[in-house]
Amino acid sequence: MMDKLTPKDSFTTVTDLVLPSETNPLNNLFGGELLARMDRAASIAARRHCRRIVVTASVNHVAFNRSIPLGSVVTIEAQVSRAFKSSMEVYMDVWIEDRESGERTKANEAIYSFVAVDDTGRPVAVPPIHPETELEKSRYDAALRRKQLSLVLAGKMKAIEATELKALFE
Ligand SMILES: CC(C)(COP(=O)(O)OP(=O)(O)OC[C@H]1O[C@@H](n2cnc3c(N)ncnc32)[C@H](O)[C@@H]1OP(=O)(O)O)[C@@H](O)C(=O)NCCC(=O)NCCS
Repeated sequence: MMDKLTPKDSFTTVTDLVLPSETNPLNNLFGGELLARMDRAASIAARRHCRRIVVTASVNHVAFNRSIPLGSVVTIEAQVSRAFKSSMEVYMDVWIEDRESGERTKANEAIYSFVAVDDTGRPVAVPPIHPETELEKSRYDAALRRKQLSLVLAGKMKAIEATELKALFE
């Protein structure tokens, strides 16, 4: 029998440079390039959790808090924060490191949702996840609210049915 899966089992880290062809006119990393890098890292994390084909269902949240200059070494850390029936939320932290000291600074955060599918693209069940640390538990708890918000915005859930989300305002 498979051991209980935790967010650490899906942990994925992707490190790469920012090259001139990937920057905007201010010589900072182009937002779409970062979105694509994060999509790749997150899809690997989702796949590591469920060992199935996964597709991106939604980009729930991206905060471009800091620009990332040309030549930066960028590390994306991704892990599944919650598994639902066929969908998984993947939480990402993006870091840049100082060339001289090697010290890491958090540049961005993002949250994507993936769905596990079979060979014909139909959703299939994923294993449950068991958060361990305080951070993992808080991201797990908030994931249901984010899923409901994403479904409401996508027109796939009525706002009145988004119980967890509504509870925030009560
Ligand atoms: C994602 C996809 C498989 C969902 O299919 P669907 O017919 O909506 O299937 P369902 O309604 O059964 O939903 C499946 C799961 O996706 C979740 N989901 C669907 N849309 C979502 C959204 N916008 N945000 C978060 N979760 C979403 C559902 O809540 C459900 O989760 P659960 O099983 O864990 O409860 C389908 O829309 C798809 O294949 N989209 C294209 C994916 C793709 O090509 N991505 C790359 C973009 S170029």
